[in-house]
Amino acid sequence: MLSRRLALAVATGAVAALALGTAAQAAPARHGGHGATLRTLAERPDLLIGTAVDASALAADAPYRAGVSSEFSSVTAENAMKWEVVEPARGSYDWSQADRLVEFAHRHHQEVRGHTLVWHNQLPAWLTSGVADGSIDAAGLRAVLRKHITDEVRHFKGEIYQWDVVNEVFDEDGTYRDSLWLRELGPSYISDAFRWAHEADPKAKLFLNDYNVEGVNAKSTAYYELAKKLRAQGVPVQGLGIQGHLDIQYGFPGDVGDNLARFDALGMQTAFTEIDVRMTLPADEAKLARQAQDYRRLLDACVAVRGCTSFTVWGFSDKYSWVPDTFSGQGAANITDENFVRKPAYTALADGLRAAARRAGRH
Ligand code: XIL
Repeated sequence: MLSRRLALAVATGAVAALALGTAAQAAPARHGGHGATLRTLAERPDLLIGTAVDASALAADAPYRAGVSSEFSSVTAENAMKWEVVEPARGSYDWSQADRLVEFAHRHHQEVRGHTLVWHNQLPAWLTSGVADGSIDAAGLRAVLRKHITDEVRHFKGEIYQWDVVNEVFDEDGTYRDSLWLRELGPSYISDAFRWAHEADPKAKLFLNDYNVEGVNAKSTAYYELAKKLRAQGVPVQGLGIQGHLDIQYGFPGDVGDNLARFDALGMQTAFTEIDVRMTLPADEAKLARQAQDYRRLLDACVAVRGCTSFTVWGFSDKYSWVPDTFSGQGAANITDENFVRKPAYTALADGLRAAARRAGRH
């Protein structure tokens, strides 16, 4: 599998470990040993460990940069590849933030996940207002979507190992989400998007991506049925991205392993793409312990199936988290605190990777 091989290639020990929260420690990274980081520990389970990257923090915050490069073998632009950022005015592209991230990833021997080509959020104003005032009709919108996908995927051709082609297209009950795309184009926008993306970069693995699809439920079953149908029609859909935005006040989703296994059985990849585990503030020891357990359970589920090839957290520090801005009263969702000090969730992931490496050693 492509990314399994890449994981080996990137984690061959060349990474200088500036371990998070232990600034004095700068020993060369070794899997399992002193100075190990998540990316080096993941070498034996043969898994890419990723983080979402905040473009401004990457530019301005040196400890943040050190954390991104030392801990992770995969990066995802938190916002920099979204449509409103890359095409703020119609026909005029701004790739600058995304290009800087891709360049950073090269320098640090990291892979890049592409996020995201078709979504109902963070669309440029020219597009939403054009649809609203009728100046962009259905045929025009389809052409605009085709151009967007083709131009963006081509721009990053060869740089992206997995693209989130469509994001959040189903509701919780498994019916298609009511969005500008569905209203104007009908559900065929989904297969069109995958075909156009594949034409532009045939080597990138193309993913569906959504939240609340960790376990077996109506929404994840809708993805399963859609993937099966599209693949039977020859549409190039190769993976399911499971965001993994959890909240400790809800139970851990059931049947995560069964869910991953059924996509495996279809011959598809899976990936955890945006993990964070939020809690009602203030954090305390019990909440942090529960959070650590949730991170670990997602990791264990991923490691247990062949097709789960990448495991990405949605930022690695509480210093730059979307959670407090989005979910009022909640936060502390990441694996290190505002000062990049490792939380129990970090240790849980490291322990999980060590355990997986020991198991791999027995075979
Ligand atoms: C979020 C970013 O983290 C925020 O900075 C931004 O303001 C809104 O989007 N699902 C997704 C991600 O697929 O793109 C979202 O990212 C979080 C939910």
